[in-house]
Amino acid sequence: MIKLVTTDPTRIKSNLLVIAACKDANVYEHPRLVATIQQTRRLSEFSGNRGDEIVLYNPPGFTTDRLMIVGLGDLERLNAEILRTATGKAVGRAMEHELSNVTIAVPGPPDGSLGFEDLLVSMLEGACLANHHFDRYKNDKKTAAVKQIAFVVPEKAASKHRRLVTVAQTICSGTLLARDWVNTPANDKTPQRFAAVVSKLCEKTGLKTRLLGKKELRRQKFGSILAVAAGSETDPALLVLEHAPARVKKTVALVGKGVTFDSGGLNLKTNVRINQMKADMAGAAAVAAAMICLSRLKPDLRVVGVIPLVENMISGQAIRPGDIIRTYSGKTVEIGNTDAEGRLILGDAISFAIKKYRPEVLIDIATLTGACVIALGEELAGVFTADDELAETILQSAQRTHERCWRMPLTEDYRDLLKSDVADINNMPRHRYGAAITAALYLSEFAAGTRWAHIDIAGPAFHKKSSAYCGPGATGFGVRLLCEVVRSLAKTL
Ligand code: BES
Ligand code: MN
Ligand code: ZN
Repeated sequence: MIKLVTTDPTRIKSNLLVIAACKDANVYEHPRLVATIQQTRRLSEFSGNRGDEIVLYNPPGFTTDRLMIVGLGDLERLNAEILRTATGKAVGRAMEHELSNVTIAVPGPPDGSLGFEDLLVSMLEGACLANHHFDRYKNDKKTAAVKQIAFVVPEKAASKHRRLVTVAQTICSGTLLARDWVNTPANDKTPQRFAAVVSKLCEKTGLKTRLLGKKELRRQKFGSILAVAAGSETDPALLVLEHAPARVKKTVALVGKGVTFDSGGLNLKTNVRINQMKADMAGAAAVAAAMICLSRLKPDLRVVGVIPLVENMISGQAIRPGDIIRTYSGKTVEIGNTDAEGRLILGDAISFAIKKYRPEVLIDIATLTGACVIALGEELAGVFTADDELAETILQSAQRTHERCWRMPLTEDYRDLLKSDVADINNMPRHRYGAAITAALYLSEFAAGTRWAHIDIAGPAFHKKSSAYCGPGATGFGVRLLCEVVRSLAKTL
C-alpha cells in the first residue's frame, strides 16, 4: 500500500527512511535532513552523484532503524526518470532485506523545470513498479513486496495530491499485471486459459467483454487467426474488451499481438531465438492491462481492446510455407514464412476492429520483428505511422512514461517487397533488409482508411536482466504508454 503522510520524517517509526540528495544543492527544508546530508557528503563514499547510495544504521536524531540517502546528481539535470530510478532502487533494496515498512521523504519543490506534481508522480511510479517480484512458481518465496510505503509531503500537498497516488497506483498495477502474464510460462497460458483469466478480471472491472472461440472464428471467417492456430493442440480466441461510457462519440481501438508461444511453426526457430517466445503475447498483455486501468480511469472516449490469441506450433495440421489463406478482410495471403505469424493475426484483428467499431484512431502493439531489435536495440520501441499528429502524441506520451519510442519510416516503395505471384500479398518480404518496416507495411494494408499507428515492442518487452524498477523478464512495456496515449487522445479527439 502506498500513502501520503505529513509526519516529521525524523520522528517516523520505519524500517527504512529514504531521503534524496543532489550533488550541488539542498532539496529539503527540514534542518536535520539538511545537516545529515551535509555530514554524509563529507564521507568519501557519498557525494550525491546519480546512483550513489549509502545506508546509516540507527542514525542519531532519527527514530527510523535505517536511513538511506540516494544521490540524484546535479539539480539542474534532475528529471522524472532519475527520480523514478532512485526511488525504485531504494524500494528494491528494501525488498532484498525483507523490510515491510518504508518511508520516503519527498524533496521540496525544486527551482528547476520539474514541478512538484511530476516529481511526486515519478517517485510514486518508481516505488510501485519496483515493488514487485514474479515468484508464482517458487516454493521458497524470498523477496516479498514491501507492505507499506509512505511518502512524506508538505501539509498543503497531501490532500491536494491524493488523487495522483490513486492514478499512479492504478496505472502501475496494470504494468505489474502485464509483467505477471508475460512471465507466466506458455504451458500455463494457452490462448483459452489466458483469455479466461483476462475476461474474468475484465468483467469484474465493468468492461464489456466478449470472447470469440474457434467455432465463432470459423463462422466469421477469421482465416489468418485460424491458419496460425492450426498447428496447435489448443484453440485460438479473440478477446474483445470495451470501455463504453454513455454519450461518448469517439472511439479508439487498441490491438495487441497475443501469440502465447511462437515456435516459428514449420519455419522453426533456432535454439537461441525460441527461448523467450512465451513473451510473444506482450502486446496482448499490454492492451488487456491498459484496458483494465482505463476502466478505472474512465476517460471520455470509447476504448476497444481487440486481442487475437494463438499458439504458433507444429503438427500435421500446421500451415505450410507456400499455403494460401483467405483472411477476414477477404484478401488472400501467401504464407512465405510461418514465423511471420504476428502480422497475420494482427491483420484479421485490425480488419475486425475497423469493420465493427469504426474507430477514429487504431493503435496496434506487438513483439513483431527481430529486425526492430537490431535497428533500435533492446530499450526502444519502433513507432510506425503515416500520421504525424498521432506519431507526436505517442512520442510525447512515451517521453512522459519513459517507455522510450523512436519513429521509424513507412517507406512506400518497400511495399513491392510484399508482392506475391499467386496471392494478393505475401506475409514474407522478398529480402530481409528493412524487415521491421515491411512488417509494418503489411499491417497497413489492413488498416487502410483509418488513422493508424503500429508500435513494435520486440526489444523492450522482455529483458533478461533486471533494472532499477523492473525485475528480470517481462517489463510490462506499453501499459503506461497506452494509458497515457488514450488519456491524451481523450482531450484532443
Ligand atoms: N515473435 C517474433 C519476433 C521477435 C523476435 C520478438 C525476437 C521478440 C524477439 C516474430 O513472430 C517473428 O518471428 N518475426 C520474424 C519475421 C520474419 C520471418 C519476416 C523475424 O523477426 O525474424
Ligand atoms: Mn514468429
Ligand atoms: Zn511472433
